[in-house]
Amino acid sequence: MLFRYELEGGNFSKAGYASSEIKKTLKQLSVDPKVIKRIVVALYEAEVNVVAHAWKGEVLADVEADQITLTLNDEGPGIPDIPLAMQEGYSTASSAVREMGFGAGMGLPNMKKNVDELHIESRIGVGTNVRMITRFTNEGG
Ligand SMILES: Nc1ncnc2c1ncn2[C@@H]1O[C@H](COP(=O)(O)OP(=O)(O)OP(=O)(O)O)[C@@H](O)[C@H]1O
Ligand SMILES: [Mg+2]
Repeated sequence: MLFRYELEGGNFSKAGYASSEIKKTLKQLSVDPKVIKRIVVALYEAEVNVVAHAWKGEVLADVEADQITLTLNDEGPGIPDIPLAMQEGYSTASSAVREMGFGAGMGLPNMKKNVDELHIESRIGVGTNVRMITRFTNEGG
C-alpha cells in the first residue's frame, strides 16, 4: 500500500497528519504497538523538519506485510553537513520555529534511534530526501 501526504514550509498545522494516518493504518494491520510508536515518533520528527526547515515537501509511505518505508522529499535549502546535523543539540532553527517549541536539535537523532535504517541525501539549495525503513518482525523478538 502506498500513501502520499503533502507538507508546506511554515505550516505546522499540517505536520503530524501523515504520522497519525500511518498510525491508524499500522494499527489495522496489528503491528506491535511499541513498533508503531517508534515509527510515529520518527515520522513526526521528519514531518516537522520539512515544515521547519524546507519550503515544501511530501511524505511517501510504502506499507508492506513485513516493513514500512517512509520517504520524505523536500524542496529546501538542503543540509550542508549531514553528520553535524545528526549530532544531538545541533540546530539552525529560526527564532520563530523555536518559539513554537521546536529547535532542540533532537529530531534527527530521535529518528535514527527509532527506525531500523535512516538514509539522508541532500543537495544544497535544492532539497533533502530522508528514507526510513522499519521491519515489523525484527522488533521486540
Ligand atoms: N529537511 C531539512 N531541510 C534542511 N535542513 C534540515 C532538514 N532537516 C534537518 N535539517 C537541519 O538539521 C538540523 C538538525 O535537525 P534536527 O531535527 O535534529 O533538529 P531541529 O529540527 O533543529 O530541532 P528539533 O527537531 O529538536 O525540534 C536542523 O536544525 C537543520 O539545520
Ligand atoms: Mg527537527
